[in-house]
Amino acid sequence: MPDQPLTPDEKLQQEFNRWAEAGEGDKMQQHHLDITEKTIRRMDLRPGERVLDLGCGSGWATRLLARLVGEGPEGFGQVVGLDISDEMVRLARATSKDFDNILYVWGSAQQIPWEENFFDKVLSVESFYYYPDQERALAELFRVLAPRGRLFILINLYKDNPYSLQWVDKLKVPVHVRSAAEYVELFQRHAFENVEAVQIPDDTPTPDDYVTKSFHSLEDLRAFKRAGALLLMASKPDVRNAAPGYTIY
Ligand SMILES: C[S@@+](CC[C@H](N)C(=O)[O-])C[C@H]1O[C@@H](n2cnc3c(N)ncnc32)[C@H](O)[C@@H]1O
Repeated sequence: MPDQPLTPDEKLQQEFNRWAEAGEGDKMQQHHLDITEKTIRRMDLRPGERVLDLGCGSGWATRLLARLVGEGPEGFGQVVGLDISDEMVRLARATSKDFDNILYVWGSAQQIPWEENFFDKVLSVESFYYYPDQERALAELFRVLAPRGRLFILINLYKDNPYSLQWVDKLKVPVHVRSAAEYVELFQRHAFENVEAVQIPDDTPTPDDYVTKSFHSLEDLRAFKRAGALLLMASKPDVRNAAPGYTIY
């Protein structure tokens, strides 16, 4: 019997397992740390909060979040790191053994294996444009967020930063390339409120001897960093999703 073709999620799993095996998990920390720290400052995290790190990769950002929500007067906060790549999840678990408030889960953004109305905040770093069905992922994020929960989606690939388009052809999986305005419209269509898009420059210096395979030149890489990543922020309205099998009258 011929092999079944891979589903889009299986293709992502295979590709990012390859990244994990090639040591890209840790390298991404160097590339994404500056813009992620700036995003985390905007998240205004409090001890006791429940946070989802969607597309957590090797878990370095998950650990930053876990430190901020740990123990406090408001209780004991928890962070769930979710990723489609089981190799990334394995890596993240192996490097987070000292944390008792992190749980790493293997799964897809399009079918988040978690209950309704649970997370106070969601962070997702450099992952959202890979999701084959972004509409489905947004519906899932809406479902698992608590009433008035906040979403923080950070992406480096979007139309308004033309330098980012230089590396699309180098990717081995399909991606979405939308503008900030198109993303805002998409989030609003999914009933999110207070939808905002801001550009977050990457202020890390690029040394003159840095070798880039992704950009045409170091000047283009520097211009890409100056324009920065796109941070999409939104809130779930003050409503609760029904649990499966229940109807809210
Ligand atoms: C470029 S990496 C970024 C990883 C991490 N957030 C970081 O900044 O180091 C993208 C991550 O998104 C994950 N991913 C891609 N598609 C996904 C999906 N449909 N559901 C969940 N995770 C996904 C990949 O496995 C990968 O770990």
